[in-house]
Amino acid sequence: MSSLTASPAWQALVEHALDRASTRTTDLFAEDSERAQRLSCEAAGLYLDYSKQRVDAETLELLQTLARQQALEAWRERLFSGAHVNHTEDRAALHMALRARAGDVFVERGDNVVPMVHAERERMARFASDVREGRWIGATGQAITDVVNIGIGGSDLGPRMVCSALAPLIDGPRPHFVSNVDGADLDAVLQQVRPETTLFVIVSKTFSTQETLANAMHARAWLVAALGEGAVAKHFVAVSTHAERVAAFGIEPDHMFHFWDWVGGRYSVWSAVGLSIMLALGADRFGQLCAGARAMDEHFRTAPLGSNMPVLLALLTVWNVDFLGCSSHVMAAYAQRLALLGPWIQQLEMESNGKRVTRSGEVVDYPTTPVLWGTVGTNAQHAYFQMLHQGPAEHEIDFIAAVDGGHPYPDLHQKLLANCFAQSSALMRGKDAAAVREELSAQGLSGDALEQAVPHRVFPGNRPSNTILLPVIDPYHLGALLALYEHRTFVASVIWGINPFDQWGVELGKQLARQILDPASKLPLDPSTQALMARVRMHPGS
Ligand code: F6P
Repeated sequence: MSSLTASPAWQALVEHALDRASTRTTDLFAEDSERAQRLSCEAAGLYLDYSKQRVDAETLELLQTLARQQALEAWRERLFSGAHVNHTEDRAALHMALRARAGDVFVERGDNVVPMVHAERERMARFASDVREGRWIGATGQAITDVVNIGIGGSDLGPRMVCSALAPLIDGPRPHFVSNVDGADLDAVLQQVRPETTLFVIVSKTFSTQETLANAMHARAWLVAALGEGAVAKHFVAVSTHAERVAAFGIEPDHMFHFWDWVGGRYSVWSAVGLSIMLALGADRFGQLCAGARAMDEHFRTAPLGSNMPVLLALLTVWNVDFLGCSSHVMAAYAQRLALLGPWIQQLEMESNGKRVTRSGEVVDYPTTPVLWGTVGTNAQHAYFQMLHQGPAEHEIDFIAAVDGGHPYPDLHQKLLANCFAQSSALMRGKDAAAVREELSAQGLSGDALEQAVPHRVFPGNRPSNTILLPVIDPYHLGALLALYEHRTFVASVIWGINPFDQWGVELGKQLARQILDPASKLPLDPSTQALMARVRMHPGS
Protein backbone atom coordinates (compact mmCIF):
# COMPACT_ATOMS: atom_id res chain seq x y z
CA MET A 1 0.00 0.00 0.00
CA SER A 2 1.22 3.51 -0.73
CA SER A 3 1.50 5.98 2.11
CA LEU A 4 -1.64 7.75 0.86
CA THR A 5 -3.89 4.69 0.60
CA ALA A 6 -2.63 3.45 3.98
CA SER A 7 -3.32 6.80 5.63
CA PRO A 8 -6.13 7.17 8.19
CA ALA A 9 -8.06 9.75 6.17
CA TRP A 10 -7.99 7.57 3.03
CA GLN A 11 -8.98 4.44 4.94
CA ALA A 12 -11.86 6.28 6.59
CA LEU A 13 -13.15 7.18 3.14
CA VAL A 14 -12.78 3.58 1.93
CA GLU A 15 -14.97 2.41 4.82
CA HIS A 16 -17.40 5.26 4.33
CA ALA A 17 -17.78 4.40 0.61
CA LEU A 18 -18.57 0.77 1.54
CA ASP A 19 -21.03 1.91 4.15
CA ARG A 20 -22.81 4.22 1.70
CA ALA A 21 -22.67 1.83 -1.26
CA SER A 22 -26.45 1.50 -1.44
CA THR A 23 -27.28 5.13 -0.63
CA ARG A 24 -29.31 6.88 -3.30
CA THR A 25 -29.01 10.59 -3.83
CA THR A 26 -32.76 10.85 -4.30
CA ASP A 27 -33.18 9.53 -0.73
CA LEU A 28 -30.74 12.14 0.55
CA PHE A 29 -32.93 14.82 -1.04
CA ALA A 30 -36.00 13.28 0.56
CA GLU A 31 -34.32 13.43 3.99
CA ASP A 32 -33.11 17.00 3.67
CA SER A 33 -35.33 19.65 2.13
CA GLU A 34 -32.42 22.11 2.23
CA ARG A 35 -29.98 19.85 0.39
CA ALA A 36 -29.96 21.83 -2.87
CA GLN A 37 -29.14 25.04 -0.96
CA ARG A 38 -26.71 23.37 1.42
CA LEU A 39 -24.73 21.64 -1.30
CA SER A 40 -24.14 24.69 -3.43
CA CYS A 41 -21.72 27.56 -3.36
CA GLU A 42 -20.98 30.85 -5.10
CA ALA A 43 -17.71 32.46 -6.11
CA ALA A 44 -16.73 35.25 -8.49
CA GLY A 45 -20.25 35.30 -9.92
CA LEU A 46 -20.34 31.55 -10.58
CA TYR A 47 -22.80 29.19 -8.93
CA LEU A 48 -21.98 25.55 -8.25
CA ASP A 49 -24.69 23.02 -7.44
CA TYR A 50 -23.13 19.76 -6.25
CA SER A 51 -26.23 18.40 -4.55
CA LYS A 52 -26.54 15.65 -7.20
CA GLN A 53 -23.24 14.17 -6.07
CA ARG A 54 -23.34 10.97 -4.03
CA VAL A 55 -22.24 12.68 -0.84
CA ASP A 56 -23.68 13.52 2.54
CA ALA A 57 -22.39 15.76 5.33
CA GLU A 58 -20.07 13.02 6.62
CA THR A 59 -18.58 12.40 3.15
CA LEU A 60 -17.76 16.08 2.83
CA GLU A 61 -16.20 16.13 6.32
CA LEU A 62 -14.06 13.09 5.56
CA LEU A 63 -12.93 14.59 2.25
CA GLN A 64 -11.89 17.76 4.04
CA THR A 65 -10.02 15.67 6.58
CA LEU A 66 -8.18 14.06 3.67
CA ALA A 67 -7.39 17.52 2.29
CA ARG A 68 -6.00 18.61 5.66
CA GLN A 69 -4.00 15.41 6.01
CA GLN A 70 -2.46 16.19 2.60
CA ALA A 71 -1.62 19.70 3.88
CA LEU A 72 -3.77 21.41 1.26
CA GLU A 73 -3.78 24.76 3.05
CA ALA A 74 0.02 24.76 3.34
CA TRP A 75 0.39 23.79 -0.33
CA ARG A 76 -2.00 26.55 -1.36
CA GLU A 77 0.14 29.00 0.59
CA ARG A 78 3.28 27.63 -1.04
CA LEU A 79 1.71 28.04 -4.48
CA PHE A 80 0.75 31.67 -3.90
CA SER A 81 4.02 32.54 -2.16
CA GLY A 82 6.13 31.58 -5.18
CA ALA A 83 7.71 28.46 -3.67
CA HIS A 84 9.16 26.15 -6.31
CA VAL A 85 6.19 23.78 -6.25
CA ASN A 86 7.35 22.42 -9.62
CA HIS A 87 10.34 20.72 -8.00
CA THR A 88 11.40 18.58 -10.99
CA GLU A 89 12.04 21.76 -12.96
CA ASP A 90 12.90 23.91 -9.92
CA ARG A 91 10.21 26.46 -10.79
CA ALA A 92 7.36 28.35 -9.18
CA ALA A 93 3.87 28.22 -10.70
CA LEU A 94 2.73 31.81 -10.40
CA HIS A 95 0.06 32.13 -13.08
CA MET A 96 -2.00 34.04 -10.48
CA ALA A 97 0.56 36.87 -10.75
CA LEU A 98 -0.46 37.32 -14.40
CA ARG A 99 -3.91 38.47 -13.34
CA ALA A 100 -2.82 40.43 -10.27
CA ARG A 101 -3.78 44.04 -9.73
CA ALA A 102 -1.19 46.79 -9.28
CA GLY A 103 -0.41 46.66 -5.58
CA ASP A 104 -0.72 42.88 -5.33
CA VAL A 105 2.53 41.13 -4.50
CA PHE A 106 3.77 37.83 -5.96
CA VAL A 107 7.37 37.04 -5.18
CA GLU A 108 9.62 34.88 -7.34
CA ARG A 109 13.28 34.41 -6.33
CA GLY A 110 13.00 37.41 -4.00
CA ASP A 111 11.41 39.85 -6.48
CA ASN A 112 7.83 41.03 -6.78
CA VAL A 113 6.97 40.06 -10.36
CA VAL A 114 3.74 42.10 -10.60
CA PRO A 115 5.37 45.33 -11.94
CA MET A 116 7.15 43.27 -14.62
CA VAL A 117 3.89 41.52 -15.55
CA HIS A 118 2.08 44.84 -15.82
CA ALA A 119 4.85 46.40 -17.90
CA GLU A 120 4.60 43.55 -20.40
CA ARG A 121 0.80 43.76 -20.41
CA GLU A 122 1.17 47.49 -21.19
CA ARG A 123 3.45 46.68 -24.14
CA MET A 124 0.91 44.18 -25.41
CA ALA A 125 -1.91 46.69 -24.99
CA ARG A 126 -0.01 49.39 -26.90
CA PHE A 127 0.78 46.99 -29.70
CA ALA A 128 -2.78 45.65 -29.80
CA SER A 129 -4.29 49.11 -29.99
CA ASP A 130 -1.79 50.12 -32.71
CA VAL A 131 -2.87 47.12 -34.79
CA ARG A 132 -6.58 47.50 -34.03
CA GLU A 133 -6.57 51.22 -34.77
CA GLY A 134 -4.50 50.97 -37.93
CA ARG A 135 -1.30 52.59 -36.64
CA TRP A 136 0.60 49.32 -37.12
CA ILE A 137 0.22 48.55 -40.81
CA GLY A 138 1.48 45.82 -43.10
CA ALA A 139 4.48 46.19 -45.42
CA THR A 140 2.32 47.50 -48.27
CA GLY A 141 0.62 50.10 -46.09
CA GLN A 142 -2.60 48.17 -45.54
CA ALA A 143 -4.23 47.68 -42.15
CA ILE A 144 -4.12 44.27 -40.48
CA THR A 145 -7.43 42.42 -40.90
CA ASP A 146 -6.37 38.90 -39.85
CA VAL A 147 -4.18 37.50 -37.11
CA VAL A 148 -2.81 33.96 -37.37
CA ASN A 149 -1.72 32.49 -34.03
CA ILE A 150 0.81 29.70 -34.61
CA GLY A 151 1.40 27.62 -31.50
CA ILE A 152 0.39 24.29 -29.99
CA GLY A 153 -0.80 22.95 -26.62
CA GLY A 154 -0.84 25.75 -24.09
CA SER A 155 0.32 28.17 -26.76
CA ASP A 156 -2.85 27.52 -28.74
CA LEU A 157 -5.71 26.01 -26.75
CA GLY A 158 -6.23 28.95 -24.35
CA PRO A 159 -6.31 31.83 -26.86
CA ARG A 160 -8.25 29.71 -29.34
CA MET A 161 -10.89 28.81 -26.74
CA VAL A 162 -11.24 32.36 -25.39
CA CYS A 163 -11.58 33.85 -28.90
CA SER A 164 -14.22 31.26 -29.70
CA ALA A 165 -16.11 31.76 -26.41
CA LEU A 166 -16.16 35.54 -26.82
CA ALA A 167 -16.54 35.58 -30.62
CA PRO A 168 -19.58 37.90 -30.61
CA LEU A 169 -17.45 40.57 -28.90
CA ILE A 170 -14.62 40.47 -31.45
CA ASP A 171 -14.12 43.96 -32.85
CA GLY A 172 -10.49 43.69 -33.98
CA PRO A 173 -8.73 41.64 -36.65
CA ARG A 174 -10.15 38.17 -37.24
CA PRO A 175 -8.26 35.53 -35.23
CA HIS A 176 -7.13 32.26 -36.84
CA PHE A 177 -5.24 29.41 -35.21
CA VAL A 178 -2.75 26.95 -36.65
CA SER A 179 -1.42 24.27 -34.35
CA ASN A 180 -1.10 20.92 -36.06
CA VAL A 181 2.02 20.01 -38.03
CA ASP A 182 -0.40 18.46 -40.52
CA GLY A 183 0.04 20.93 -43.41
CA ALA A 184 -3.70 20.83 -43.99
CA ASP A 185 -4.10 23.01 -40.92
CA LEU A 186 -1.81 25.79 -42.17
CA ASP A 187 -3.14 25.47 -45.70
CA ALA A 188 -6.75 25.89 -44.60
CA VAL A 189 -5.90 29.15 -42.82
CA LEU A 190 -3.63 30.56 -45.53
CA GLN A 191 -6.44 30.02 -48.04
CA GLN A 192 -8.55 32.47 -46.05
CA VAL A 193 -6.08 35.33 -45.57
CA ARG A 194 -4.00 37.76 -47.68
CA PRO A 195 -0.29 38.36 -47.02
CA GLU A 196 -0.73 42.16 -47.17
CA THR A 197 -3.20 42.25 -44.28
CA THR A 198 -2.11 39.31 -42.10
CA LEU A 199 -0.12 39.39 -38.88
CA PHE A 200 1.43 36.12 -37.67
CA VAL A 201 1.85 35.67 -33.92
CA ILE A 202 4.29 32.84 -33.26
CA VAL A 203 3.69 31.56 -29.76
CA SER A 204 6.02 29.13 -28.07
CA LYS A 205 7.25 29.17 -24.51
CA THR A 206 10.40 27.28 -25.45
CA PHE A 207 10.56 28.42 -29.08
CA SER A 208 11.84 24.95 -29.85
CA THR A 209 8.58 23.10 -30.46
CA GLN A 210 8.91 21.26 -33.76
CA GLU A 211 5.34 21.76 -34.95
CA THR A 212 5.26 25.49 -34.22
CA LEU A 213 8.63 26.25 -35.77
CA ALA A 214 7.86 24.19 -38.88
CA ASN A 215 4.51 25.96 -39.39
CA ALA A 216 6.10 29.34 -38.69
CA MET A 217 8.82 28.69 -41.32
CA HIS A 218 6.18 27.86 -43.92
CA ALA A 219 4.11 30.90 -43.02
CA ARG A 220 7.24 33.04 -43.33
CA ALA A 221 8.05 31.55 -46.75
CA TRP A 222 4.45 32.20 -47.88
CA LEU A 223 4.71 35.83 -46.83
CA VAL A 224 8.18 36.34 -48.30
CA ALA A 225 7.10 34.81 -51.62
CA ALA A 226 4.35 37.42 -51.86
CA LEU A 227 5.91 40.52 -50.29
CA GLY A 228 9.67 39.91 -50.01
CA GLU A 229 12.03 39.42 -47.08
CA GLY A 230 11.61 43.00 -45.88
CA ALA A 231 7.95 42.36 -45.04
CA VAL A 232 8.71 39.94 -42.20
CA ALA A 233 9.23 42.71 -39.65
CA LYS A 234 5.72 44.06 -40.21
CA HIS A 235 3.95 40.71 -40.33
CA PHE A 236 5.62 38.56 -37.66
CA VAL A 237 5.71 38.94 -33.89
CA ALA A 238 6.62 36.33 -31.31
CA VAL A 239 5.57 35.37 -27.80
CA SER A 240 8.12 33.37 -25.84
CA THR A 241 10.39 33.06 -22.84
CA HIS A 242 13.42 32.54 -25.12
CA ALA A 243 14.66 35.80 -26.64
CA GLU A 244 17.73 34.25 -28.32
CA ARG A 245 15.73 31.61 -30.17
CA VAL A 246 13.21 34.23 -31.29
CA ALA A 247 16.05 36.40 -32.61
CA ALA A 248 17.58 33.39 -34.38
CA PHE A 249 14.26 32.86 -36.13
CA GLY A 250 14.52 36.42 -37.47
CA ILE A 251 12.01 38.26 -35.30
CA GLU A 252 13.28 41.54 -33.85
CA PRO A 253 13.49 41.88 -30.04
CA ASP A 254 11.01 44.79 -30.17
CA HIS A 255 8.50 42.49 -31.81
CA MET A 256 8.73 39.86 -29.12
CA PHE A 257 6.43 39.68 -26.11
CA HIS A 258 7.74 37.99 -23.02
CA PHE A 259 6.60 35.65 -20.36
CA TRP A 260 8.53 33.69 -17.80
CA ASP A 261 9.54 30.16 -16.85
CA TRP A 262 7.25 30.29 -13.80
CA VAL A 263 4.25 30.28 -16.18
CA GLY A 264 3.34 26.75 -17.20
CA GLY A 265 2.23 26.41 -20.84
CA ARG A 266 -1.25 25.20 -19.90
CA TYR A 267 -1.62 28.04 -17.37
CA SER A 268 -0.38 30.73 -19.75
CA VAL A 269 -3.49 32.19 -21.41
CA TRP A 270 -3.27 35.21 -19.08
CA SER A 271 0.28 36.04 -20.20
CA ALA A 272 1.51 37.37 -23.55
CA VAL A 273 0.28 34.01 -24.88
CA GLY A 274 -3.09 35.79 -24.86
CA LEU A 275 -1.88 38.40 -27.37
CA SER A 276 -4.25 37.09 -30.06
CA ILE A 277 -7.11 37.58 -27.59
CA MET A 278 -6.06 41.15 -26.99
CA LEU A 279 -5.74 41.82 -30.71
CA ALA A 280 -9.23 40.45 -31.37
CA LEU A 281 -11.03 41.80 -28.32
CA GLY A 282 -8.98 44.71 -26.99
CA ALA A 283 -7.01 45.27 -23.81
CA ASP A 284 -10.05 46.15 -21.70
CA ARG A 285 -11.74 42.83 -22.30
CA PHE A 286 -8.47 41.02 -21.70
CA GLY A 287 -8.33 42.93 -18.41
CA GLN A 288 -11.85 41.74 -17.53
CA LEU A 289 -10.84 38.15 -18.26
CA CYS A 290 -7.95 38.57 -15.81
CA ALA A 291 -10.20 40.31 -13.26
CA GLY A 292 -12.58 37.36 -13.21
CA ALA A 293 -9.66 34.98 -12.71
CA ARG A 294 -8.28 37.16 -9.92
CA ALA A 295 -11.64 37.09 -8.15
CA MET A 296 -11.51 33.28 -8.27
CA ASP A 297 -7.89 33.38 -7.00
CA GLU A 298 -9.03 35.43 -4.02
CA HIS A 299 -11.86 33.02 -3.33
CA PHE A 300 -9.57 30.00 -3.60
CA ARG A 301 -6.98 31.59 -1.36
CA THR A 302 -9.34 32.73 1.39
CA ALA A 303 -12.58 30.70 1.47
CA PRO A 304 -12.83 27.89 4.04
CA LEU A 305 -12.37 24.44 2.49
CA GLY A 306 -16.05 23.52 2.92
CA SER A 307 -17.28 26.44 0.81
CA ASN A 308 -14.31 26.75 -1.52
CA MET A 309 -15.44 26.04 -5.07
CA PRO A 310 -12.18 24.71 -6.58
CA VAL A 311 -11.56 22.67 -3.43
CA LEU A 312 -15.04 21.16 -3.54
CA LEU A 313 -14.76 20.30 -7.24
CA ALA A 314 -11.41 18.60 -6.70
CA LEU A 315 -12.52 16.67 -3.62
CA LEU A 316 -15.64 15.48 -5.42
CA THR A 317 -13.51 14.21 -8.29
CA VAL A 318 -11.24 12.38 -5.84
CA TRP A 319 -14.32 10.87 -4.19
CA ASN A 320 -15.88 9.80 -7.49
CA VAL A 321 -12.71 8.45 -9.04
CA ASP A 322 -10.85 6.93 -6.12
CA PHE A 323 -13.71 5.74 -3.92
CA LEU A 324 -16.77 5.29 -6.15
CA GLY A 325 -14.84 4.01 -9.17
CA CYS A 326 -16.00 6.55 -11.77
CA SER A 327 -14.02 5.89 -14.89
CA SER A 328 -13.99 9.30 -16.56
CA HIS A 329 -14.90 12.94 -16.18
CA VAL A 330 -17.27 14.37 -18.75
CA MET A 331 -17.32 18.09 -19.55
CA ALA A 332 -20.84 18.82 -20.75
CA ALA A 333 -21.00 22.53 -21.54
CA TYR A 334 -24.50 23.49 -22.56
CA ALA A 335 -23.11 26.49 -24.40
CA GLN A 336 -22.02 26.43 -28.01
CA ARG A 337 -19.51 29.18 -27.26
CA LEU A 338 -17.77 26.87 -24.80
CA ALA A 339 -17.24 24.19 -27.42
CA LEU A 340 -13.46 24.50 -27.01
CA LEU A 341 -13.49 24.49 -23.22
CA GLY A 342 -13.18 20.69 -23.19
CA PRO A 343 -9.88 20.55 -25.12
CA TRP A 344 -8.45 23.32 -22.92
CA ILE A 345 -9.43 21.51 -19.72
CA GLN A 346 -8.15 18.25 -21.18
CA GLN A 347 -4.64 19.64 -21.43
CA LEU A 348 -4.94 21.45 -18.11
CA GLU A 349 -5.99 18.38 -16.18
CA MET A 350 -4.48 15.46 -18.08
CA GLU A 351 -1.08 17.04 -18.72
CA SER A 352 -1.01 18.21 -15.09
CA ASN A 353 -2.33 15.22 -13.20
CA GLY A 354 -1.77 12.38 -15.66
CA LYS A 355 1.09 11.05 -13.52
CA ARG A 356 1.84 7.68 -12.00
CA VAL A 357 4.36 8.71 -9.38
CA THR A 358 4.13 11.05 -6.41
CA ARG A 359 6.39 14.03 -5.82
CA SER A 360 8.86 11.75 -4.08
CA GLY A 361 8.80 9.23 -6.93
CA GLU A 362 6.62 6.62 -5.20
CA VAL A 363 4.44 4.70 -7.69
CA VAL A 364 0.77 5.35 -6.94
CA ASP A 365 -1.70 2.56 -6.22
CA TYR A 366 -4.79 4.69 -6.84
CA PRO A 367 -6.24 6.35 -9.93
CA THR A 368 -5.04 9.92 -10.50
CA THR A 369 -6.70 12.03 -13.15
CA PRO A 370 -9.57 10.33 -14.92
CA VAL A 371 -9.91 10.63 -18.69
CA LEU A 372 -11.53 14.00 -19.36
CA TRP A 373 -13.70 14.34 -22.43
CA GLY A 374 -16.95 15.68 -23.77
CA THR A 375 -18.60 17.96 -26.29
CA VAL A 376 -21.37 20.52 -26.05
CA GLY A 377 -24.94 19.79 -25.08
CA THR A 378 -27.44 19.22 -26.52
CA ASN A 379 -25.34 17.63 -29.31
CA ALA A 380 -23.78 15.31 -26.74
CA GLN A 381 -27.20 13.92 -25.82
CA HIS A 382 -27.55 12.57 -29.33
CA ALA A 383 -24.11 11.00 -29.33
CA TYR A 384 -22.83 9.52 -26.08
CA PHE A 385 -25.34 10.25 -23.32
CA GLN A 386 -26.81 6.78 -23.89
CA MET A 387 -23.65 5.40 -22.31
CA LEU A 388 -23.77 7.86 -19.41
CA HIS A 389 -27.32 6.80 -18.59
CA GLN A 390 -27.19 3.05 -19.16
CA GLY A 391 -23.58 1.94 -19.64
CA PRO A 392 -22.16 -0.28 -16.88
CA ALA A 393 -19.44 2.19 -15.89
CA GLU A 394 -20.16 5.40 -14.02
CA HIS A 395 -18.80 8.78 -15.04
CA GLU A 396 -18.62 12.07 -13.23
CA ILE A 397 -20.16 14.92 -15.23
CA ASP A 398 -19.80 18.70 -15.07
CA PHE A 399 -22.75 20.48 -16.62
CA ILE A 400 -21.88 24.08 -17.44
CA ALA A 401 -24.41 26.62 -18.63
CA ALA A 402 -25.06 30.35 -18.76
CA VAL A 403 -28.24 31.85 -17.31
CA ASP A 404 -28.38 34.41 -20.11
CA GLY A 405 -27.76 32.95 -23.57
CA GLY A 406 -26.35 36.22 -24.88
CA HIS A 407 -28.11 35.84 -28.23
CA PRO A 408 -31.42 36.99 -29.69
CA TYR A 409 -33.25 33.64 -29.34
CA PRO A 410 -34.56 33.30 -25.75
CA ASP A 411 -36.84 30.40 -26.68
CA LEU A 412 -33.84 28.39 -27.88
CA HIS A 413 -31.99 29.21 -24.70
CA GLN A 414 -34.91 27.98 -22.59
CA LYS A 415 -34.85 24.69 -24.47
CA LEU A 416 -31.09 24.41 -24.02
CA LEU A 417 -31.32 24.94 -20.25
CA ALA A 418 -34.32 22.63 -19.94
CA ASN A 419 -32.28 19.88 -21.58
CA CYS A 420 -29.26 20.57 -19.39
CA PHE A 421 -31.28 20.35 -16.17
CA ALA A 422 -33.29 17.37 -17.46
CA GLN A 423 -30.12 15.38 -18.13
CA SER A 424 -28.56 15.89 -14.71
CA SER A 425 -31.89 15.10 -13.08
CA ALA A 426 -32.41 11.95 -15.17
CA LEU A 427 -28.88 10.77 -14.43
CA MET A 428 -29.54 11.11 -10.72
CA ARG A 429 -33.12 9.83 -10.57
CA GLY A 430 -32.95 6.99 -13.07
CA LYS A 431 -36.04 4.86 -13.62
CA ASP A 432 -36.55 1.53 -11.87
CA ALA A 433 -38.24 -1.62 -13.18
CA ALA A 434 -41.50 -0.91 -11.35
CA ALA A 435 -41.83 2.51 -12.97
CA VAL A 436 -41.01 1.04 -16.37
CA ARG A 437 -43.63 -1.69 -15.91
CA GLU A 438 -46.26 0.84 -14.97
CA GLU A 439 -45.42 2.99 -17.98
CA LEU A 440 -45.48 0.05 -20.39
CA SER A 441 -48.72 -1.39 -19.10
CA ALA A 442 -50.33 2.05 -19.41
CA GLN A 443 -49.30 1.82 -23.05
CA GLY A 444 -51.15 -1.52 -23.31
CA LEU A 445 -48.18 -3.89 -23.09
CA SER A 446 -48.46 -7.02 -20.97
CA GLY A 447 -47.14 -10.53 -20.35
CA ASP A 448 -43.82 -11.68 -21.89
CA ALA A 449 -43.65 -8.74 -24.25
CA LEU A 450 -43.76 -6.37 -21.30
CA GLU A 451 -41.19 -8.34 -19.24
CA GLN A 452 -38.77 -8.54 -22.16
CA ALA A 453 -39.02 -4.80 -22.71
CA VAL A 454 -38.40 -3.83 -19.07
CA PRO A 455 -34.59 -4.27 -18.65
CA HIS A 456 -33.86 -2.19 -21.75
CA ARG A 457 -35.81 0.71 -20.35
CA VAL A 458 -34.41 0.71 -16.81
CA PHE A 459 -32.07 3.56 -15.88
CA PRO A 460 -29.92 2.81 -12.81
CA GLY A 461 -29.65 6.51 -11.90
CA ASN A 462 -27.56 7.69 -8.93
CA ARG A 463 -24.97 9.03 -11.37
CA PRO A 464 -23.07 12.01 -9.97
CA SER A 465 -22.86 15.43 -11.55
CA ASN A 466 -22.07 19.07 -10.81
CA THR A 467 -23.85 21.99 -12.41
CA ILE A 468 -21.96 25.25 -12.82
CA LEU A 469 -23.93 28.34 -13.83
CA LEU A 470 -22.40 31.51 -15.24
CA PRO A 471 -24.66 34.57 -15.38
CA VAL A 472 -23.51 35.07 -18.98
CA ILE A 473 -20.47 34.13 -21.05
CA ASP A 474 -18.54 37.37 -20.82
CA PRO A 475 -14.81 37.96 -20.26
CA TYR A 476 -15.10 38.30 -16.47
CA HIS A 477 -17.07 35.11 -15.86
CA LEU A 478 -15.08 33.16 -18.42
CA GLY A 479 -11.91 34.20 -16.59
CA ALA A 480 -13.41 33.05 -13.30
CA LEU A 481 -14.41 29.71 -14.84
CA LEU A 482 -10.93 29.03 -16.23
CA ALA A 483 -9.25 29.91 -12.93
CA LEU A 484 -11.75 27.67 -11.14
CA TYR A 485 -10.57 24.69 -13.17
CA GLU A 486 -6.90 25.65 -12.79
CA HIS A 487 -7.23 25.60 -9.02
CA ARG A 488 -9.33 22.45 -9.08
CA THR A 489 -6.46 20.76 -10.90
CA PHE A 490 -3.99 21.99 -8.31
CA VAL A 491 -6.09 20.82 -5.36
CA ALA A 492 -6.53 17.35 -6.87
CA SER A 493 -2.76 17.15 -7.39
CA VAL A 494 -2.19 17.93 -3.71
CA ILE A 495 -4.57 15.18 -2.66
CA TRP A 496 -2.88 12.70 -5.00
CA GLY A 497 0.55 13.92 -3.89
CA ILE A 498 1.78 14.64 -7.40
CA ASN A 499 3.53 17.53 -9.14
CA PRO A 500 0.99 19.00 -11.59
CA PHE A 501 3.39 21.46 -13.19
CA ASP A 502 5.80 19.27 -15.15
CA GLN A 503 5.07 17.07 -18.20
CA TRP A 504 7.92 14.64 -18.72
CA GLY A 505 5.51 12.20 -20.33
CA VAL A 506 5.51 14.12 -23.61
CA GLU A 507 9.28 13.91 -24.10
CA LEU A 508 9.87 10.34 -25.28
CA GLY A 509 7.59 10.65 -28.30
CA LYS A 510 9.27 13.94 -29.26
CA GLN A 511 12.71 12.25 -29.11
CA LEU A 512 11.55 9.36 -31.24
CA ALA A 513 9.95 11.67 -33.84
CA ARG A 514 13.30 13.45 -34.19
CA GLN A 515 14.99 10.09 -34.57
CA ILE A 516 12.52 8.93 -37.23
CA LEU A 517 13.04 12.15 -39.18
CA ASP A 518 16.83 12.00 -38.96
CA PRO A 519 18.28 9.95 -41.85
CA ALA A 520 21.64 9.72 -40.05
CA SER A 521 20.14 8.34 -36.87
CA LYS A 522 21.77 5.05 -35.85
CA LEU A 523 19.36 4.31 -33.01
CA PRO A 524 17.41 1.11 -33.67
CA LEU A 525 13.66 1.44 -34.18
CA ASP A 526 11.23 -1.26 -33.18
CA PRO A 527 10.13 -3.64 -35.99
CA SER A 528 6.56 -2.34 -36.13
CA THR A 529 7.74 1.24 -36.62
CA GLN A 530 10.25 0.12 -39.25
CA ALA A 531 7.51 -1.68 -41.15
CA LEU A 532 5.23 1.37 -41.03
CA MET A 533 8.03 3.56 -42.33
CA ALA A 534 8.84 1.15 -45.13
CA ARG A 535 5.18 1.18 -46.15
CA VAL A 536 5.08 4.99 -46.24
CA ARG A 537 8.32 5.11 -48.26
CA MET A 538 6.71 2.93 -50.94
CA HIS A 539 4.24 5.76 -51.53
CA PRO A 540 5.51 8.06 -54.31
CA GLY A 541 4.62 11.30 -52.42
CA SER A 542 6.46 10.41 -49.22
O1 F6P B 1 4.61 18.93 -25.52
C1 F6P B 1 3.87 19.49 -24.51
C2 F6P B 1 4.11 20.95 -24.40
O2 F6P B 1 5.35 21.17 -23.84
C3 F6P B 1 3.01 21.63 -23.59
O3 F6P B 1 3.23 21.52 -22.25
C4 F6P B 1 3.06 23.01 -24.13
O4 F6P B 1 1.90 23.72 -23.82
C5 F6P B 1 3.24 22.73 -25.60
O5 F6P B 1 4.07 21.60 -25.65
C6 F6P B 1 3.82 23.86 -26.40
O6 F6P B 1 5.08 24.24 -25.92
P1 F6P B 1 5.75 25.59 -26.36
O7 F6P B 1 4.87 26.71 -25.91
O8 F6P B 1 7.09 25.61 -25.72
O9 F6P B 1 5.86 25.59 -27.87
